[in-house]
Amino acid sequence: MQGKMKEAENMKDEDKLYLFQGALLPSIMCPEENMKALHDFQARADDVLLVAYPKCGFNWMVSVLRKIISKSTGREAESRPHPPLIEFMAPEQQKVVKDAPSPRLLGTHLHPDRIPASFYQQKTKMLVIFRNPKDTLVSYFHFSNKNPVLPAVDWDSFYSDFMKGNVAWGSYFQHALAWNKKMEDPNVKVLTYEELKKDLGGCVRQISEFFGFALTEFQVKEIAGESTFDAMKNSSSGSHGNLGNVFFRKGEVGDWKNHFSSEQSAEMDEAFKDQLERTKLGDVLNY
Ligand code: A3P
Repeated sequence: MQGKMKEAENMKDEDKLYLFQGALLPSIMCPEENMKALHDFQARADDVLLVAYPKCGFNWMVSVLRKIISKSTGREAESRPHPPLIEFMAPEQQKVVKDAPSPRLLGTHLHPDRIPASFYQQKTKMLVIFRNPKDTLVSYFHFSNKNPVLPAVDWDSFYSDFMKGNVAWGSYFQHALAWNKKMEDPNVKVLTYEELKKDLGGCVRQISEFFGFALTEFQVKEIAGESTFDAMKNSSSGSHGNLGNVFFRKGEVGDWKNHFSSEQSAEMDEAFKDQLERTKLGDVLNY
C-alpha cells in the first residue's frame, strides 16, 4: 500500500483515473489486469460481501463486520489497514484468497452489474451501504484532495464531475438505481449511513442476523461502542496509518450545508427527485 502511495505521488493527475467498461477507476489501485482477473473470481455462498459506493461508510462497516465475524467465530479480528476490496487484489492475490478460511470478508465499490457473476450464482449475501448523495459528494471531494491515488480537484469541478458520474467508480445515481432494483432480493441488505448514525447497535444486530451470525446483546453493544466515529478515529493511525485522518474526517450527517451553493443544492434535489424519489432506495435514504 505504501509503495502504491509513493507511486501515486509521482504520477500526473490526468493519469490517475482510466475508463474501464464505462466507469472511471483509479489506475494504481485497480489496474486492468485486476479487473480482467475478477471475471473468474470464485465466490462462496458463505462469503460476507460488503458493497458501498465510495465514501458511504465502507471502512466503518469493514470494522463492524470484522468484529462480528471475530466474536461469532472466535477468530482473531483482522487488523490489516487495507480494506478487503476485490478490485484492489492483483491476480495473484485473488488466487491466495481462494484458500482463505470461511467466512471470508470481501468488499467492493463496484456497480452491481460489475460484481463477479459467481457472487450471484452462489447467492452470496451482500450488505450494501448508501448515504445521502450530498454528504457522499462532500466526503468524496475531501478524500480526492487528500488521497494521492485520486486527482486533486477544486470544489466546483468536483461537484460537476460527480453529477456527471465522471469520478472513480462512476455515477452515484447509476449505482443507486441499479441497487434499487435489488431491494427485494433476500440476499441483499441495504442500510444507510444515516441509519447507522442514528442506531448503530440496532444496525449491528440486523447485520449479524442477516449474515446468520449469533451475537449476544452484550456483544452487539460492545461492537457498537467500539465502532463510534471517535473510537475509530482514535485508533485510525494503527488501522490506517498516515491515511487515518483522511478516512475518518468528520463523520457527520449534513456537512453538505457547509459546501453546497444554493444552486448546487437545488440541482442535486432535482436530480434526486427525477431519479430516486418514490423508489424503494429513495425511501430508505429519507432524503
Ligand atoms: P466524512 O468524510 O463525511 O467524515 P468510506 O469508508 O466509504 O470511505 O467513507 C468515509 C466516510 O465515513 C467519512 O465521512 C468518514 O468520516 C465516515 N466514517 C468512518 N467511520 C465512521 C464512524 N465510525 N462513524 C461515522 N462516520 C464514519
